[in-house]
Amino acid sequence: MNKSISGFSKLSKSEKIDWIVSTYLSNSNNAKQTITQYFNTNSKLQQLHDEFIENTISNYYLPLGVAPNFLINGKTYAIPMAIEESSVVAAASKAAKFWMTRGGFKTEVISTTKIGQVHFMFHGDFNSLERYFNAIKPKLIEDAKPITKNMEKRGGGILDIELRDKTKDINGYYQLHATFETLDAMGANFINSCLEQFAKTFKAEAEEQLDASVEIVMSILSNYVPDCLVRAEVSCNIEDLAEGNIDPKTFAEKFVQAVSIAEVEPYRAVTHNKGIMNGIDAVVLATGNDFRAVEAGVHAYASRHGKYSSLTHAKIENGIFSFWIEIPLALGTVGGLTSLHPLVKIALDILDKPKAKELMQIIAVAGLAQNFAAVRSLTTTGIQEGHMKMHLMNILNQFDANTKEKESIVNHFKTHTVTHSAVVEALEKLRTE
Ligand code: MEV
Repeated sequence: MNKSISGFSKLSKSEKIDWIVSTYLSNSNNAKQTITQYFNTNSKLQQLHDEFIENTISNYYLPLGVAPNFLINGKTYAIPMAIEESSVVAAASKAAKFWMTRGGFKTEVISTTKIGQVHFMFHGDFNSLERYFNAIKPKLIEDAKPITKNMEKRGGGILDIELRDKTKDINGYYQLHATFETLDAMGANFINSCLEQFAKTFKAEAEEQLDASVEIVMSILSNYVPDCLVRAEVSCNIEDLAEGNIDPKTFAEKFVQAVSIAEVEPYRAVTHNKGIMNGIDAVVLATGNDFRAVEAGVHAYASRHGKYSSLTHAKIENGIFSFWIEIPLALGTVGGLTSLHPLVKIALDILDKPKAKELMQIIAVAGLAQNFAAVRSLTTTGIQEGHMKMHLMNILNQFDANTKEKESIVNHFKTHTVTHSAVVEALEKLRTE
């Protein structure tokens, strides 16, 4: 059977579904019903979602949860989180509550500079290229004025453009390396438009003034933003870490050891940072930001010293336990999905309509809280205890357990270890009784 098609994008949504179902899903039960049951009955809302991307066939739901009780620089937040993984929202809430009574989170934005580059090839004399660049630089900025005018009115715009010689890496390779301040916009469109204009101006004048041609390879922002940095921290006296039957000194020491391991051991660092990204991505997604851009930038930053390492750090000094994170986050609270997706608007409203700088701080806190909760579990009870309790419900739902069955099984597993097979077995036993 021919499983390819030309003109798929031109089909109506219903034709697309029919083609997918008949071509790839003929052996799946109720495939069409499964796809269409997620349509929203509000046709305007459905159309809005259909038009976010191309070739839409349905909606893919993610739960939106809220982690309350985050005290950040003296202000209390409930943080919206969109994520499919159980335990993440519970862990964030638990960490928030823990630190609420211990001074809360302290944060600061260190820098907000974003970067974009025009990559080009030139095989002529470097000195004349440099002279040409210095002469044309004001025109590069001037020609981009129609794009930068509004941003400049608000206090942002192009910060600088440098010529970078990369010929040691690739023969003939140079860059226009530009820095930007994009205020409350993530800035991808703004930066890319500026870069494409720089490329046009740079190339046009080069023809007459240089001994060799300038070949533009591409113009694009960088998702590596080491100068768009935010820091979040918690600290308290070691004794104040006491909770339940945990000895605070042993806990603090083990916690610092665990973080040190993530600082030196890449296998651990990746998982450690994954836990941080559980918190970060969930808020990035809920607030309509680009989590792929954030992920790419954050992991590059974690490798900035040539070896992948922890994004968080911890220490004990003079009886004080401190735990902090420093990460690059390029975020927007205007433009893009923020004004289009009704739930994104709600998420931003829950956060009291933050500016991008405030959102950077909130999201860094979500990452730090998540990491605190994970490392605390890992160094005390182990991660599975809490995870499996949440997992239990997922398994029960997967097997369509009714309320009575759920009650009975949850009760049973208060004194038994949760494993997938043990839950299935217990449910089967209950059903045959
Ligand atoms: C699971 O999603 C995240 C953890 O593995 C993070 C960590 O190990 O620190 C629990």
